[in-house]
Amino acid sequence: MLLTGTVVVDSATVIDEGAVVVDGTTIETVGERDELLDRYPDHERRDFDIVAPGLVGSHIHSVQSLGRGIADDTELLDWLFDHILPMEGSMGADEMRTAATLGYLELIESGTTTCIDHLSVSHADQAFEAAGEVGIRALMGKVLMDQASPEPLEEDTEEALAESEELIRQYHGAFGDRVRYAVTPRFAVTCSEECLRGARELADRYDGVRIHTHASENLGEIETVETETGMRNVHWLDEVGLTGEDVVLAHCVHTDETERDVLAETGTHVTHCPSSNMKLASGVAPVLDYLDRGINVALGNDGPPCNNTLDPFTEMRQASLLQKVSQLESTALPAATAFEMATVNGAEAAGFEQLGKLKPGWKADVIGLRTDTSRATPVHDVLSHLVFATHGDDVAFTMVDGEVLLDDGEVVGVDVEAVR
Ligand code: GUN
Ligand code: FE
Repeated sequence: MLLTGTVVVDSATVIDEGAVVVDGTTIETVGERDELLDRYPDHERRDFDIVAPGLVGSHIHSVQSLGRGIADDTELLDWLFDHILPMEGSMGADEMRTAATLGYLELIESGTTTCIDHLSVSHADQAFEAAGEVGIRALMGKVLMDQASPEPLEEDTEEALAESEELIRQYHGAFGDRVRYAVTPRFAVTCSEECLRGARELADRYDGVRIHTHASENLGEIETVETETGMRNVHWLDEVGLTGEDVVLAHCVHTDETERDVLAETGTHVTHCPSSNMKLASGVAPVLDYLDRGINVALGNDGPPCNNTLDPFTEMRQASLLQKVSQLESTALPAATAFEMATVNGAEAAGFEQLGKLKPGWKADVIGLRTDTSRATPVHDVLSHLVFATHGDDVAFTMVDGEVLLDDGEVVGVDVEAVR
């Protein structure tokens, strides 16, 4: 297939009248449109205003898709324990399947082609199957909770780890390696030391399995962890083995200098979720300091209820605006940096290789946008446009591994009406 438009190769390279040629699951070549049209006259063709790498949502909760509008004006711990956990606990297999499918559809319809997904305690298999059906690329895992959790979510530690291992055997590398497993302790508040250490041991037994958890999102959370363990949250996670190049920590809003040193020294990935951090009044994550220290910072929407949208363009915009206004510095987090966080940094966090740029030999995870809905014509600067003026509705086309998942705004291969 041949895709034409202004081609955003990566944050530094744009081809004004370009084209991307896809062969099988990878990108064959990228270049000037007229030249490639001459060279590949028989290729099936799609024309867009902008062609860009598919975006990576590095922390979401697809299974919370049915919870939008629940307790919108609540802070994290009350929101979680009084509303979200009871909701997750009440969901049966069918609801979990529907919620996950709706989440993945919303992602592919608005430009996200890879996600790092935090599921729930039960029925995780439903979300894996949904990811396979929709075709999204994902690093995902069943949630572990073995203390201080409401019924029926609290599980026996060994059973929960055994169930996770079963899911690893079944789904890690499934669907043509589009889906990989992340061992997913919810957060230190609801996980015992045995559980956290067990998560590390389990991940170490399987090549490519990562660890994904929440960390230091909210002041009440870090206070609880400090009371229980006598340690700052990141130090505690480091103590039990949950830092490192295979670990993705969502949020990290409230960290001190020594914790940031640990994140940098261990190569731990951080996912910044600006919309969620604002909506749950969690705080402003020290993203610029993390980036200065060489910490890989990716971008995530977090759950639909703490964001109300899974639109990745909104998330890039919020990431930039939040740093600009909190630093009173217009260059604090430019469009190019927000775009990197939502593409290559996310790919690095998720552990998928050759993902996040439109380069020959790289994975054919591509989106096509029509700018008419955003009315931002002419487009003076395409990266600025993507971050500050685009929204998910501009996405007309989504491809993962060379497979078309969204064509002319219509989902391919899933009976959307039946799900909705
Ligand atoms: N920390 C632990 N669980 C959650 C969750 O579901 N959402 C958010 N935002 N933070 C959490
Ligand atoms: Fe979250």
